[in-house]
Amino acid sequence: MLYLDNAATSFPKPQEVIDAITIALNAPASPGRSGHKPALEASRVVYRARKAIAKLFGIGNLERVAFTPNITWAINIALGGIGLKAYDHVLSSALEHNSTARPLALLAEKNIITWETVAPGPDGLLRAEDFASKLKPNTRLVVLCHGSNVTGALAPAKAIKEAIGEVPILLDLAQTAGAMPLEDLGSWADIITFTGHKGLLGPTGTGGLYLKEGIGFQPLAVGGTGSRSESLSQPDFLPDALEAGTLNTHGLAGLAAGVNYLLEKGLDKVREHELNLVSVFLEDISKISKLSILGPGPGILQRVSTVSLNIEGWSSSDLAGALEAEYGIMTRSGLHCSPLAHKAMGTFPGGAVRFSFGLFNTLEEARLAAKALEELSKRKTARKKS
Ligand SMILES: Cc1ncc(COP(=O)(O)O)c(C=O)c1O
Repeated sequence: MLYLDNAATSFPKPQEVIDAITIALNAPASPGRSGHKPALEASRVVYRARKAIAKLFGIGNLERVAFTPNITWAINIALGGIGLKAYDHVLSSALEHNSTARPLALLAEKNIITWETVAPGPDGLLRAEDFASKLKPNTRLVVLCHGSNVTGALAPAKAIKEAIGEVPILLDLAQTAGAMPLEDLGSWADIITFTGHKGLLGPTGTGGLYLKEGIGFQPLAVGGTGSRSESLSQPDFLPDALEAGTLNTHGLAGLAAGVNYLLEKGLDKVREHELNLVSVFLEDISKISKLSILGPGPGILQRVSTVSLNIEGWSSSDLAGALEAEYGIMTRSGLHCSPLAHKAMGTFPGGAVRFSFGLFNTLEEARLAAKALEELSKRKTARKKS
């Protein structure tokens, strides 16, 4: 199997991650609840995960990091906490995943906000000045997918923040956390949301958010936290306010191990490797006639290691099916939970085939994938099953 679907979830996970999960699963404890030794150790597991995330993003105050089951929950919690009210204006990119687009669409449908999007240029790249020019006096929030899970384009997040000034920015780091150095974020980002099972190399069921001092918060669910048990109200302090119910301790042990693995390796090295992979792949496929790449092509480094493409004459599902059946290459076809991005790129509703490289892929594999595409491009359709 050649796994090129790391934008969906990363594979393989480092042995350190598997070991950390196994050790935590073998411990009889619930963090923050009982006072016995194993329970205290479980609390330490969670603390170490918070510390690892804080180090990754350069966050000073660990308590402002709350864990959730994934980034989708984190985004929903963050949007609920901003306190958006009648006809507040929200700006987002036109490349948002449904994890941000659906909650925004719901808020707009309920007439709580007006929502506008900023389109990328013909090269697939977003520009800070386009966000600045759409700001209104009542713009309360800018929502930004940092790395597109469709085109791979990297948004100029810091330049956008500089262009929008005091307006808070919510960053969806699903595709960039663990893929590049991001330790400067803690000094300027207002809201950071992340998922544990992609670039951070952790298991599914982990994710979270960071809220800068002064950003409001509102629980999406209330319940047991192990703190202030005498009260029927949810604690009003972070992270407890946003962490109702027993945390995914073994998942967080795996997440911490994944983040520490990356920190030890060096995020600059990870970035360099992934850019090499994608550069080789883009270079090789750019010679294939009838093949079109969505967004940034060869030579543009404002990108993550995800490339979506189509080959004339092939539907995206047939092409992904042939790649798996004939070459054992795992990709993802269709709309990638991102209809807005495909509309922006002119590939709605058919979608595209997405290749997403990860830390453990090799240059050889990138070349193999390109070769498979070259061969398939010479045919009109998938082979009929016998
Ligand atoms: C950009 C982006 N945002 C959000 C998500 C949602 O991630 P999760 O399903 O882990 O909440 C994804 C995952 O596909 C994504 O690529």
